[in-house]
Amino acid sequence: MNFTSLPRFPLATLPTPLDELPRLSQELGARILMKRDDLTGFALGGNKARKLEFLVADALEKNCDVLVTGGGVQSNHIRSTAAAARKAGLDAVGVFFASSGGERNGNMLLDEILGAQLIYANADKNATERAIENVCEDLRAQGRKPYLIPVGGSTPRGCVAYMLAVQELQTQLRAQNIQPDAIALTTGSCGTHAGILAGVKFFGLNVPVHGVTVSRPVDECRARLARLLTETAHFIAQPLDVAAAELIVHGEYLGAGYTKITPEARAAIYRVAQREGIFLDPVYTAKTMAGLFDLRQRGVLKENSTIIFWHTGGAPGLFGFPNDVLS
Ligand SMILES: Cc1ncc(COP(=O)(O)O)c(C=O)c1O
Repeated sequence: MNFTSLPRFPLATLPTPLDELPRLSQELGARILMKRDDLTGFALGGNKARKLEFLVADALEKNCDVLVTGGGVQSNHIRSTAAAARKAGLDAVGVFFASSGGERNGNMLLDEILGAQLIYANADKNATERAIENVCEDLRAQGRKPYLIPVGGSTPRGCVAYMLAVQELQTQLRAQNIQPDAIALTTGSCGTHAGILAGVKFFGLNVPVHGVTVSRPVDECRARLARLLTETAHFIAQPLDVAAAELIVHGEYLGAGYTKITPEARAAIYRVAQREGIFLDPVYTAKTMAGLFDLRQRGVLKENSTIIFWHTGGAPGLFGFPNDVLS
């Protein structure tokens, strides 16, 4: 299958910039570039805009009338999905792991403005996946045509979006004659990471991809990455031979768990804002940046190397967890 011509519902403003971070580079003794997927534009940006282009197109092809997905409190994915649904003339249902929405600000406020139906499953991740399926069943019983998007939009279609993002990055790197030594990104539901790994393989970029997990144990992430890569290879009918050693996930920056900020992540938010005028978010990208600082300090990421930090967005989370960011 020629995956570059899969149906796509335009949402993102592409290509996103590839920015130099000169002050951070000087401080860290390595050239740090940032791939600005916080600036995908649609509905306050972030990585989900790319994935949703393919998922919404598929929903429309299947004549669905409501997008159903799930996530944690302050989920960027639910906000982006709800907005994408509206742009496509569809309804949206967001199923949360939590028992209530917490702060009615940030993404939760945006979900309300978008008129998404919000359901609180009060369950762990696996039970929430089942709750999403149950919501779809109920909608079908009411005569609706739901389109189920798994948590994070991490499906082969979502991965294809990130394969193409790697092609976009490769074009930018070639134009500027840059050979990166590492890519660092946030690993959540693993679709972005798997898509980037698949893209790196497929387009022959030859660069290690370092994921920082912000929600799941390392082993679970590596298993999910392997499964998503297998499914994506099957979906595009192309081999994607990624060795186990290439599934690099760092677990030491997670702290007390998903949405629980760490002192290092908090410091990273202030440092990147005050050095470069760029906002990180407390749940995802700040932990990854804290990881990058530490990996660089420990020499895992080498001195004078060229490192691409893939910014996946999430700034509305700053307004969802203001006290965590301030204290
Ligand atoms: C800001 C941000 N970064 C990273 C991720 C992780 O992406 P993925 O779920 O594809 O691993 C998410 C997921 O919701 C996110 O909102």
